[in-house]
Amino acid sequence: MRMVDLIEKKRDGKILSKEEIDFIIEGYTDGSIPDYQMSALLMAIFYQDMTDEEISHLTLAMANSGDIIDLSSIDGIKVDKHSTGGVGDTTTLVLAPLVASVGVPVAKMSGRGLGFTGGTLDKFESIPGFKIELSDQEFIDIVNKSKVAVIGQSGNLAAADKKLYALRDVTATVDSIPLIASSIMSKKIAAGADAIVLDVTTGDGAFMKDIEDAKRLAKTMVRIGKLAGRQTMAVISDMSEPLGEAIGNSLEIVEAIDTLKGNGPADLTEMCYVLGSQMVVLAKKAETLDEARAMLEEALHSGKALEKFREMVKDQGGDETVIDQTDQILTAKYTIELAAKTSGYVTKLVANEIGIAAMLLGAGRKTKEDDIDHAVGIKLHKKIGDEVAEGESLLTIYANSNEIDEVKELLYQNIFIGDVPKEPVLIHDIITE
Ligand code: URA
Ligand code: CA
Repeated sequence: MRMVDLIEKKRDGKILSKEEIDFIIEGYTDGSIPDYQMSALLMAIFYQDMTDEEISHLTLAMANSGDIIDLSSIDGIKVDKHSTGGVGDTTTLVLAPLVASVGVPVAKMSGRGLGFTGGTLDKFESIPGFKIELSDQEFIDIVNKSKVAVIGQSGNLAAADKKLYALRDVTATVDSIPLIASSIMSKKIAAGADAIVLDVTTGDGAFMKDIEDAKRLAKTMVRIGKLAGRQTMAVISDMSEPLGEAIGNSLEIVEAIDTLKGNGPADLTEMCYVLGSQMVVLAKKAETLDEARAMLEEALHSGKALEKFREMVKDQGGDETVIDQTDQILTAKYTIELAAKTSGYVTKLVANEIGIAAMLLGAGRKTKEDDIDHAVGIKLHKKIGDEVAEGESLLTIYANSNEIDEVKELLYQNIFIGDVPKEPVLIHDIITE
């Protein structure tokens, strides 16, 4: 087989076979296929698309290109949850203990964030002492004992994806549905879960700006998951404004604790119920979504979910006193209010630009090597639909420098205030096949 013939085949809109796709992924992973040929193929895929069958072959070839995690020694149906990306997305921090508290085993592998705010690992590391490097055996033992643990993603998970993602990033081939679907699903399949709940975001803060594209991505991933023998479903959620009120690592931990205490923002709480109910049903801990939701509401209101979070923090070496005294981790030197320049209703909060503002404060990374500042970020006081008076605070900036004119300017440019109230949307659709 020659790579050049396969590039030509895809360029002309023909379908690649399993053997051809395996040849490409093996060759690219071991270095025998160079970046320039892979780049040409990626662009051909971008324009010609792939069939579901091709995408499944690609996904499995990528999943098999690195470590495959075996979770079979953990009792029960392991359900993973994945978001295609959001700004201030605090759901995993709430969901992991929440669903574990009703008996769903959560063996979560997470990554560090690049861009916007940190990843789930960075957020957990805002808790002093919290350790995300556990041996495989410690990880499995903790999940069997407490039903929940979170660790750093193995360096060699879906090895082909790591190389491909870096190449896509510099060849304008990131936003391609077959490439995004195979990238995400290869990692989920290699990470060993039995069932997968996907949160496919749409809007300014997401990969898929357009709802029809988001649905197509969701349907593709659900079909691939099922073809790979994993129960999979997707929620299409809105990410035109940040989820919840907190954007930044410590701020999001505090937001998660507040939510587990029953005092969280309404949109974040609802999102956790919607995604959590799906997880509980896939794990066969409830028969219907209504029954699952009732279990989760009870766990949250009775304090059971918060106790599970406490157990999780203790199991992983973290300082649990943070849960009772959340101010301990909000250590930014400056808190600065951003006052509204006019009165009216908030009509738009451009999520990705607000994410960039948080990153400029130090809450995210521009490059892999950047250090993250856990204490900084943004706490929104007004969200879409809220009424605001001139001079009232729109948000609080948590900063470790008081030279933040650029950040303030960026925020002002991306918060729109109008005369007519606008209803925010949270969930657009649920995709089960
Ligand atoms: N997230 C991924 O892991 N891969 C993509 O291609 C896009 C989002
Ligand atoms: Ca949030």
